[in-house]
Amino acid sequence: MLKGKHIILGITGGIAAYKSVSLLRLFVKSGAEVQVVITPAGKEFITPVTLSALSGKPVISEFFTANTGQWNSHVDIGLWADAMVIAPATASTIAKMAHGVADNMLVTTYLSAKAPVFIAPAMDLDMMAHPTTTRNLRQLRADGVRIIEPEEGELASHLVGKGRMAEPQEIHDTLLEFFNRRKSPLKGRKLLITAGPTYEKIDPVRFIGNYSSGKMGYAIADEAARRGMEVTLVSGPVAVSPEEAGVNVIKVESAREMLAACEKAFPTSDVAIMCAAVADYAPAHRSDRKIKREHDEVPVIELVKNPDIAATLGGAKHPGQRLVGFALETDNERSNAIEKLKRKNLDMIVLNSMNTPGAGFGVDTNDVTIILPDGTSTTSGCLPKKEVAAIILDSIESSYAG
Ligand code: PMT
Repeated sequence: MLKGKHIILGITGGIAAYKSVSLLRLFVKSGAEVQVVITPAGKEFITPVTLSALSGKPVISEFFTANTGQWNSHVDIGLWADAMVIAPATASTIAKMAHGVADNMLVTTYLSAKAPVFIAPAMDLDMMAHPTTTRNLRQLRADGVRIIEPEEGELASHLVGKGRMAEPQEIHDTLLEFFNRRKSPLKGRKLLITAGPTYEKIDPVRFIGNYSSGKMGYAIADEAARRGMEVTLVSGPVAVSPEEAGVNVIKVESAREMLAACEKAFPTSDVAIMCAAVADYAPAHRSDRKIKREHDEVPVIELVKNPDIAATLGGAKHPGQRLVGFALETDNERSNAIEKLKRKNLDMIVLNSMNTPGAGFGVDTNDVTIILPDGTSTTSGCLPKKEVAAIILDSIESSYAG
C-alpha cells in the first residue's frame, strides 16, 4: 500500500493522458495523497475537473490561479512530495527536464523536487527512437530520474512499435516496490554474488565450459542494488551486463580466478550468493599452443578437481554472514540440494532442475525451490528471472526479520 505517501502526478500533453485517470485512481485507492500538476498541453487531453474530483485537490497548472491570484509554490509542492511521477512524459517534457527549461509549472516543480522522480515516456515510435530522445533520457537517467520503460504495441498513429506508456498498474506497482524496498533490511548491506560459467582453458582456442548465460545471477545483482545493497558481482564470461549502474562487476574466467576474487570480497560481505555454474574440473595441463588435429593420436585431456568456491566460503563464514548456494540438478533433485546445503555450510540453497521446462540455463525464466537448513521450502513456479531474483532476496530479507 502507498498509505500516507505524498505523490505529485505530472501529466503532459499526450494521448496517453487518458490513462493517467486510472493511475490517479490506483494511487488514491492505495492510500496515497496525490497532487496533480498538469501542463497547458496536458489540459487539451484531459480536464482538470476529472482530476481534481478524483484526487480531492485542486489541479495545479499555472504559477498563479487566475481568478484569485493565488501563488502556487513549486518549491512547497516539491518539498511536500515523497515521489513525483510524470505519466505520460512527452518528448517535449523529457527534453525540458533534461535541459532545465523551466517554462511551466510541471518542469519548475521537477527542478524543485527533492523526492525521487519517475517518468513514464509515451510518444510515437520514431520520436522514441530518435537520437535526441535517447540522449535526453540518458541525461535524465544520469540525473537520477527513474524511467518506467514504454511498451511495444499499437500506437495512437496506428504504427506498431515502442512508445506506448506503461500500463497504470505497472506504474503504480513500480512506486509500491520502490517504497517497500526503501525499507528493505538489506539496504546498506554488502552482497557478493557470482554469475555465469567458468572457462577452463585446454589450449589458446579451446576451453571446458557450460551453458550458463549469467541471466539469473545478473538479475539478482540488479535487484539487490535496487534494494540498496552494495553489490560486488564476480562474473564468468557472459554477454549480459547489469542494468543498475551501482553494480561493481569483477570479470574472471576460470574457477581459480573466481575463487581468488570471492576470497578477497567475502570477509567484508554480509551476504554471498553463489549463482555461478563453476566447472568442477579443469585440464591438468594447458597447452601453450593450439592442439593440432594432424597428430596421429587423439589427445587425452587429464582433468583435476577445481576448488569448491561455495564450500571454501562456507568454511570461512563468520557469525552473521549469510551464504546462499544454488543447485542445478538432473536427478534426485531435492536430496542432492540438501546434501550440498549441508556439505557447503550454506544458509539457504536455491534448487533449479534441468528437467523443469523454462528453468535453468540460458532461458529468461526460472522455476526454483528455496530450501532452508530446517528443511522448509518454498517454490516460485515458472517466472521471469527478474521476479525469481526478487523472491530469493525476499527470502534473505526474511532471515533478518526473525
Ligand atoms: O546463468 P543462467 O543461464 O541464467 O542459468 C542460471 C543457473 C542455472 C546457472 C543458476 O540458476 C544455477 O543453478 N547456478 C548454479 C549451477 C551449479 O553449478 O550448480 P551445482 O549444483 O553444480 O553447484 C552447487 C553450488 O556450488 C552452486 O552454488 C555453485 O555456484 C557452487 N560451486 C560449484 C562448484 C564449484 N567448484 N564451486 C562452487 O562454488
